[in-house]
Amino acid sequence: MNKIEEGIKPIVKKYKEEVGALIPALQEIQEKYKYIPKESIEILSKEFHIPVPRINGVITFYAQFRTEPVGKHIIRVCHGTACFVNNGDSIMDTVKEILNIEVGETTEDRYYTLEQVACLGCCSLAPVIMIDDRVYGKLDSTKVKNVLKKFKEVEND
Ligand code: FES
Repeated sequence: MNKIEEGIKPIVKKYKEEVGALIPALQEIQEKYKYIPKESIEILSKEFHIPVPRINGVITFYAQFRTEPVGKHIIRVCHGTACFVNNGDSIMDTVKEILNIEVGETTEDRYYTLEQVACLGCCSLAPVIMIDDRVYGKLDSTKVKNVLKKFKEVEND
């Protein structure tokens, strides 16, 4: 049994007999690996008796699912209206410049993946970014540079 098979075994076992369990199973797989490994789709297909194209259809339909490996941390830059009118674009430009990647890409060291999102639900703090589940608001270019610098320093302490 290889690593992915071994890793998703408890998830398959948990949901195998449940009707409509594909989405929660995919969510747990993504929680574990931060994306849906291709191999896990084949295993789910076999175990849940659902054709691969149907599983792929579900994954494509729900924006929450990723099919590519991501970095250790995910940076979400808000592009919602409140953030946009509060200079959100310059925040995005600064993050891209610092990390030297575009939206959807991962840094070479696999430390950060950059995403753009519609609204992070804390518009009063606009412009906002999130790193994993932490929110950083009322940003400008200087502040966002410091946030990224400090985030790495704190983690590597
Ligand atoms: S628009 Fe950015 S948090 Fe709502």
